[in-house]
Amino acid sequence: GKDKELIRGSWESLGKNKVPHGVIMFSRLFELDPALLSLFHYSTNCGSTQDCLSSPEFLEHVTKVMLVIDAAVSHLDDLHSLEDFLLNLGRKHQAVGVNTQSFATVGESLLYMLQCSLGQAYTAPLRQAWLNMYSIVVAAMSRGWAK
Ligand code: HEM
Repeated sequence: GKDKELIRGSWESLGKNKVPHGVIMFSRLFELDPALLSLFHYSTNCGSTQDCLSSPEFLEHVTKVMLVIDAAVSHLDDLHSLEDFLLNLGRKHQAVGVNTQSFATVGESLLYMLQCSLGQAYTAPLRQAWLNMYSIVVAAMSRGWAK
């Protein structure tokens, strides 16, 4: 429906430049919650947040995150096919000390990046469409925390 069109249309250009858009998202995330930086074991190698974000390991994680978003956008018609993958991804994040509450902050950072990148095209229905998809992804990842 309309949600899928809005998401696909907006991702078409963003998805071609994953790293710079992912860097905007993670700069915002670490601004909103600097403590998340320390969950990356390789963060001890860098002084400032900006140093971290330009290090190869961080850029790699940024790329990984953007590829998961890319997979979700490509599977909008059958998001449940990603459920096992996302559950395992959740488990890995539990193991590195991520809290499920942090996904709300990640979501805020995702919307911030969309707003920065899309300008006028960032509308209320588009925001809602992305939130809907993101909440499905987060729900699937969060199952990785269940005992
Ligand atoms: C791996 C932290 C959010 C996707 C990792 C690792 C850490 C980490 C420490 C292991 C080291 C590495 O691979 O770089 C975090 C933190 C997050 C966050 C602190 C925010 C609270 C996300 C999100 C996604 C994601 C939102 C995608 C939707 C991945 C992937 C891996 C990974 C695909 C590799 C997993 C594997 O090795 O199989 N993350 N992450 N991360 N993260 Fe995240």
